[in-house]
Order: sequence, then structure tokens, then C-alpha cells
Amino acid sequence: MKTVFVTLVILVFAATSWVSAQVLRGNPKEGQVVYEKNCLRCHGNKLDGNGPDSRDLIVRPANLQSPLIRAKTDWELLVTISNGVLFSPMHGFRGKLTDQHMLDVLSYIRSVSPADIVS
Ligand code: HEC
Repeated sequence: MKTVFVTLVILVFAATSWVSAQVLRGNPKEGQVVYEKNCLRCHGNKLDGNGPDSRDLIVRPANLQSPLIRAKTDWELLVTISNGVLFSPMHGFRGKLTDQHMLDVLSYIRSVSPADIVS
């Protein structure tokens, strides 16, 4: 029983450090290119949700500069970018962008709109 617990603790620790290491490896410069190609038309060049296509959408794109987004963890944002938001024009980018490009775009978002919390 004790061994199982220790193994679990190690696994959880290894998994979380892997996640943060992955996030840290995003390249904001690459991310900007990915953003401009895939996200700008909805989320806008200021990341404020006022992209050229946003007017036509019933569900407005999220303002990525908002305190709400800043308060989310990198992991939460990554899951959204990867899976999308159900019943909204925000579709998932898994399969369209590589994992590395999703990390890059996340680090670009964070460089413009830094996190409020330590994640
Ligand atoms: C077709 C328009 C469209 C495109 C393209 C788009 N989004 Fe979105 N995005 C949305 C909408 C609409 C929402 C708001 C969904 C809601 O609040 O229900 C959203 C929400 C989000 C959120 C916030 C989710 C939350 O936690 O509240 C993030 C982060 C995000 N988008 C990132 C991206 C990134 C990164 C890209 C490009 C790789 C992208 N989006 C491309 C429309 C778009």
C-alpha cells in the first residue's frame, strides 16, 4: 500500500513538472505567427476579442486580456485551445496545430496578457 502511494506521489509530481516544463518551452515569437494565422480574425490583434470576424459571431470571442483569462492557469487555457469551447465558434485546435504550436501561442498570449497567479 505504501509503495503504491509513493509511486502515485512521484507520478503526480513528475506529471506536473512535465506540464510546466512544456509550457515554459513555448516560444512567444513563433506563437505570434500562429496567433495571427489562426486566432486574430476572432480574438483581434490586441487580443481583446474584437477581431474582424467577431462582429458576425453570436458568441463573442473571449477578451484574452481580461482578468478572467489572466486568472486561469496555463493548463486551463491549453485545454481550451486544444479542445475548444462547446457550442461556441471556438473550436478545438488539436490536430490543426501541433502541440508545440499550441504551447507557442499560449506563451504569446501570456507575453501580452501575463498570468495573475503562479501556475
Ligand atoms: C471563429 C472564431 C475564433 C477563432 C478563430 C478562435 N477563437 Fe478562441 N474563442 C472564440 C469564442 C467565441 C470564445 C468564447 C467562448 C465562450 O465564452 O463560450 C473563445 C474563447 C477562447 C479562450 C478562452 C476560454 C476561456 O477559458 O474562457 C481562449 C484561451 C481562446 N479562445 C484562445 C484561442 C486561440 C489561442 C485561438 C487560435 C489558435 C483561437 N482562440 C481562435 C472564438 C474564436
